[in-house]
Amino acid sequence: MPALQALKARQVLDSRGRPTVEVDAILAGGVAGRAIVPSGASTGRHEAVELRDGDPAHYAGLGVRKAVANVGNVIAPAILGMDVEDQAAIDAALLSLDGTPNKGRLGANALLGVSMAVAHAAAAARGEELFVHLNRLWKAKSEGLDPSIPREPSLPLPMVNMISGGLHAGRNLDIQDVLFFPIGAGSYSEALETIVAMYRAVGAELAKLGAEATLVGDEGGYGPKLRDDEQALQVVTDAMLACGLTPGRDGAIALDVASTHFYDPATGAYRLTGVQKPMTADAMVEMLARWTDRYPIVSIEDGVAEDDWEGWQALTNRLGDRVQLVGDDLFVTQSARIAQGVEIGAANAVLIKVNQVGTLSETLDALVLSRRSGYRPVVSARSGETEDATIADLAVGTAAGQIKIGSVARSERLAKYNRLLRIEEALGPNALFAGRGALWRGKSGSILA
Ligand code: PGA
Ligand code: ZN
Repeated sequence: MPALQALKARQVLDSRGRPTVEVDAILAGGVAGRAIVPSGASTGRHEAVELRDGDPAHYAGLGVRKAVANVGNVIAPAILGMDVEDQAAIDAALLSLDGTPNKGRLGANALLGVSMAVAHAAAAARGEELFVHLNRLWKAKSEGLDPSIPREPSLPLPMVNMISGGLHAGRNLDIQDVLFFPIGAGSYSEALETIVAMYRAVGAELAKLGAEATLVGDEGGYGPKLRDDEQALQVVTDAMLACGLTPGRDGAIALDVASTHFYDPATGAYRLTGVQKPMTADAMVEMLARWTDRYPIVSIEDGVAEDDWEGWQALTNRLGDRVQLVGDDLFVTQSARIAQGVEIGAANAVLIKVNQVGTLSETLDALVLSRRSGYRPVVSARSGETEDATIADLAVGTAAGQIKIGSVARSERLAKYNRLLRIEEALGPNALFAGRGALWRGKSGSILA
């Protein structure tokens, strides 16, 4: 049994230059695993708590020295000696040590750093790739699921940020991401090549409009000043044509509206800067339906706000039959909220972000529940990322089918895209690629039919 011998945590910096937690899990003989915790900007209200020091003398209060100290002083004494292959037991110990529903005592950043580092160490002890170890955990967890649910490692179809807005790009647009899906690709590496061609083509389209964006948003997407959100949809569609791609056949659009951030819960109004009057949820749904009629949109994330359950029902009733509707701020990777959504018929897909919930085991639980409910999972990075590429292995090991990393600029994003290239090589010529089949498809079929 590979036993945990030491835990070492430290404060490092993420892609926005903000402190975050790095953890080394060390085993006998010096075998070790390392993980770094990501961090969001457009966070959901129901996410697990990211513990920050609040000391204005250091990093404007954003330091994570308390979370780092919790790893050394509270977590290590309790879990040293445990078997790192038993991820469930270690994560259960972390939860009981914290003892709060939102992980506010020790910090989800402390817990997740340990949880992920332990998985890396377990893989290293066996001398195997992380995705192989995670696949073993996935198979154990997903035992008994419908046989149509994929269980063997497979490379995900990426949805890739082309144009950034909202909180990630100085509120130039209301929508946070306009993303591209290379749905015509037959392999991951082919998909990646198409994505890079599209990224250049979108840049060229923006230049033609005189909106050339040398500035990029937090996830590497262009952050242009455009007339309105709809113009961003037109730019990405035009870029597909310029690349010789047929919209709806070779390429498609996904949106992350991230609408929670322009929603006013007091009045139930959505306040878009590009629209004169505040909008109701129904008006939002109609606007999204109109866009879906005009552009090759196959997936919409957070089209309405995190606690607007009625709005979510309306959105799902109106578009759920032809568009993948992804809950991010809505579900925050937490099984209880996913169950609530399934119960009332809200959304048909779940964004999976490890730090929204705080342990790997609970992340796997959210994946199993999504699959069991017929909801499509999309493994996702945060806007604050690092060189840590654990999510690439997670997406492959759990055969999640889709991944959202950000754009093909900025090395914290490329760390994941490149990791997927290495995994593709490791899986060899018969590597499974989820491709367009990973996308949610309604009864009447989407434009993909
Ligand atoms: P975040 O953005 O990491 O800032 O929350 C990503 C997203 O909303 O999907
Ligand atoms: Zn989102």
